[in-house]
Amino acid sequence: MTKAADWIDLSGKVAHVTGGAKGIGRGISRALAMAGARVMISDLDGEGAQQTAQETDGEWMQLDVTDSSAVAAAMSETVERLGRLDILVNNAGVYHGLGGPVGAITDDVWKTLWSVNVDGVFYCCRAAADLMVAAGNGGRIINVSSTQAVSPGVGVTYDGAKAAVAQMTRTLALELAPHGINVNALAPGPTWVHGGEPPRTGDGELKRTGEPLADTVADRIHRLPAGHWADPLEQGKAVVFLASEMSDFVTGAYLPVDGGWLTL
Ligand SMILES: NC(=O)c1ccc[n+]([C@@H]2O[C@H](COP(=O)([O-])OP(=O)(O)OC[C@H]3O[C@@H](n4cnc5c(N)ncnc54)[C@H](O)[C@@H]3O)[C@@H](O)[C@H]2O)c1
Repeated sequence: MTKAADWIDLSGKVAHVTGGAKGIGRGISRALAMAGARVMISDLDGEGAQQTAQETDGEWMQLDVTDSSAVAAAMSETVERLGRLDILVNNAGVYHGLGGPVGAITDDVWKTLWSVNVDGVFYCCRAAADLMVAAGNGGRIINVSSTQAVSPGVGVTYDGAKAAVAQMTRTLALELAPHGINVNALAPGPTWVHGGEPPRTGDGELKRTGEPLADTVADRIHRLPAGHWADPLEQGKAVVFLASEMSDFVTGAYLPVDGGWLTL
């Protein structure tokens, strides 16, 4: 009898994770490797990617996802070095210091954020889909969006970009379904990427800045139903679900992994 555990076994599968040097990308890379996949870890930070590759017995490469020809070469190189490409996780993203009130957002900030968080996702989807369609083995594309796609908080730059990622996901799901390629969005809630135990949400004072968006976010984190920030590995577990046979009939979904954030 087939065991349900066999459905999450990714042995023989090859995954490419962008932005895998640290944070959520590192958690995703670890979880995919634990499920048996061979993982190619790419990142702007080559040294960090190499460290994650060492931890996961994977491969690494330096990659800037905003460079479309480098992205196309990187996806082909994944197939050359690991033999195939079954799973793409578009995790690379930026947000530190790139949000805030609309009047304070410069052209450069807008372009920087959208070039990584939207253009980069598009370039990677396009290159990987070409290879997956040509290979004819189906595949999985998982785009890392955010709860901010539907519940604003960081700023028009980031929230808009993550909504764009969620909608690109639905369009690609429709377009690639005939090729057996499932395309889904992961929507992380507050995830602790600074090392150590994720903080409990009720700890400490609720700091109010007087800036409406920031205060809304702080308030939600303070009341997060799960009672703590996520560990990056908790995002990785959901990615294993979306990458495995467990989710065969799931495509075009927007999956919040948020400890109840979107219920608030
Ligand atoms: N941490 C959270 O609470 C949270 C919540 C929702 C969504 N997210 C999303 O999860 C993803 C990962 O976030 P994180 O918190 O782990 O961030 P992080 O800053 O810890 O890691 C992001 C990684 O992406 C890499 N990167 C940045 N620009 C790149 C580029 N041009 N090309 C290739 N790699 C690049 C960085 O070097 C870094 O290693 C992002 O898409 C982010 O928007 C995070």
